[in-house]
Amino acid sequence: MNSIEEKIIRLRQELTTYNHHYYVLNESLISDQAFDGMMKELEALEVQHPEFADPNSPTQRVGSDHDQNFKQVKHQYPMLSLSNTYSEAEVRDFDARVKKVIGDAFQYVCELKFDGASISLSYENGVLIRAVTRGDGEQGDDVTQNIKTIPSIPLKLMGAAFPEKFEIRGEILMPFRVFENLNREREERGEALLANPRNTASGSLKLQKSSEVKKRKLDAYLYYLLGDDMPEEGHFENLTRARSWGFKVSEHMALCATIEDVLAYIHRWNTQRHTLPVATDGIVIKVNSMHLQRQLGNTAKSPRWAIAYKFESERVVTRLNSISYQVGRTGAVTPVANLDPVQIAGTVVKRASLHNSDIIQNLDLRIGDMVWVEKGGEIIPKIVGVDKEARILVSPPIAFIKKCPECGTELIRPEGEAAHYCPNGLGCPPQIKGKMEHFISRKAMNIESMGPETIDLLYREGLLKDVADIYEIKQENIVALDRMGEKSATNIIESIQQSKQVPYERVLFALGIRYVGATVAKKLAMALKNIDNLMHAGFEELISIDEIGDRIALSVQAFFKDEKNILLVQRLKKSGLQFQLSNEKQEQQSDILKGLNIVISGTFQKYSRDQLKQMIEDNGGKNTGSISKMTSYLLGGDNIGPSKLEKVKKLEIPMLSEDQFLELIGKQ
Ligand code: IVH
Repeated sequence: MNSIEEKIIRLRQELTTYNHHYYVLNESLISDQAFDGMMKELEALEVQHPEFADPNSPTQRVGSDHDQNFKQVKHQYPMLSLSNTYSEAEVRDFDARVKKVIGDAFQYVCELKFDGASISLSYENGVLIRAVTRGDGEQGDDVTQNIKTIPSIPLKLMGAAFPEKFEIRGEILMPFRVFENLNREREERGEALLANPRNTASGSLKLQKSSEVKKRKLDAYLYYLLGDDMPEEGHFENLTRARSWGFKVSEHMALCATIEDVLAYIHRWNTQRHTLPVATDGIVIKVNSMHLQRQLGNTAKSPRWAIAYKFESERVVTRLNSISYQVGRTGAVTPVANLDPVQIAGTVVKRASLHNSDIIQNLDLRIGDMVWVEKGGEIIPKIVGVDKEARILVSPPIAFIKKCPECGTELIRPEGEAAHYCPNGLGCPPQIKGKMEHFISRKAMNIESMGPETIDLLYREGLLKDVADIYEIKQENIVALDRMGEKSATNIIESIQQSKQVPYERVLFALGIRYVGATVAKKLAMALKNIDNLMHAGFEELISIDEIGDRIALSVQAFFKDEKNILLVQRLKKSGLQFQLSNEKQEQQSDILKGLNIVISGTFQKYSRDQLKQMIEDNGGKNTGSISKMTSYLLGGDNIGPSKLEKVKKLEIPMLSEDQFLELIGKQ
């Protein structure tokens, strides 16, 4: 190696070490001046010797002045959320649920729940390759360039004992001190103040210029590792390892042997958290052992092996002036409280959701009452109580409206439900528009170039009365709208045309049948193949489908009982939308793997891991994350991690090669 190159490498290593000590370990090894001097020297050498450039050099953290577009990236593992509780009793319930499944020989890990913007970082061979925001949990924005400016996030890992490929998740935070300084500067410039550190952190990640992100002085704590080849069996132990690779892992995480220890941790941090430099909104309690985590598994939204205990949030008192009612896409009528404006957690609050009439009744709310309003991590504040002693003039109890505020139809309240509904689904304006917005949304027909404003305009012009009208709209109708150019009109027409190819399961989701979300729509489509079968399916047939319960079955039947919905489907069919499962999908399906749990590991020649996973599911099997007694097969490719191989041997689990697997499902 030539001596210039050696010098460059040495400077990079030294600067990386100083940086790690300063931003992660909170100790400085050299003066700022000496650090800056070395950085300048490295910058100069890199300019003179572009042949030794490295995108992960410490000089690359400065950010750029160029605007960027954030690419949408699908998460390899969806980013789940945590189930929340504010009560200790529910923490004990969680403990009981966990013990019922895994017995009582295990430990918990308690961690602080950081209140920032969640991020998923991917590393390969010790190098940061991608940073993606949570987004909708399935896919997020690629914000790698912005993340690289955060000094506590390692661009290259230390040592060599990390897995070849893994993801690490955590929270991007703006420390209180930085937030306050930023707001002070804004105040001096007469600019609007930022609401809170959390929103500011997540807003900062989406700034167009990474050089601006650097100025935001963000920090990051990491708390969750994902990958096939973790070095340790325990979450705590893995995070401790991650700390040695250079990540900032909170030193306050603790192992707890009993639920009493967990509660003691909660009590301690309920007050001590006020001494922390960053925002926290609770404690996360996790089962430590990774194989027990897998045994507990996940629900659709959150893991069963973890729970978040949230701290009581800030509360203020204000006056309830009136109640208005909002009608959503499903016809559900939500009461909204109009309040005297009041500051909570840095934002002005004027309205609060009351959810349903039971809540109004239980609170025994009266107009003019002084009410307690709380704003936790949630965006929408809520009324949590009434100061009854402050009542002077007592107004009568609030009577929930009887008629839809938008169309005048008499409201109904289905048995067993808390919500009131306007049943005029096909004639009530906010429901019609809401249904159309859902219909065109990304996960449905994906005609997003149309947007809610266009829908609103077309609806008001009388050109769109229901979703079937979308396919009858003409280019000139759109051009005639205010502020609509020829080009945007063409885009809209094109994406309407393209949406005719959207597969049946998404069309079914787009119809907006109550309780039929994207996953349920998929199950129904797979099981019954086409809309005619679905339309005529009896209750028993529906509930015999995996994951379809009474509530969904009744809702599907109610939908198709309505003549107007049948007509709508017929019109959509005529327009050429897909109302049956594609041949390809039908052929791909079988029950061959029913009851089998298959783990995929390694790299493959013919198909990607995602494709193999899909094939397992299409053939009735289950793709599980890790090897346990329950595993039926390991579908193994090249380079399976040694720890996995050992486990397979120990548990005597049969292995399948890619070809053997394809043969098994009749694809070869
Ligand atoms: S674990 C599968 N640990 O809370 C769950 N999450 O409501 C993985 N969060 O999206 C998350 N501190 O943004 C975990 N110590 C911690 C956390 C934490 C904050 C956030 C995270 C997550 C949300 C869940």
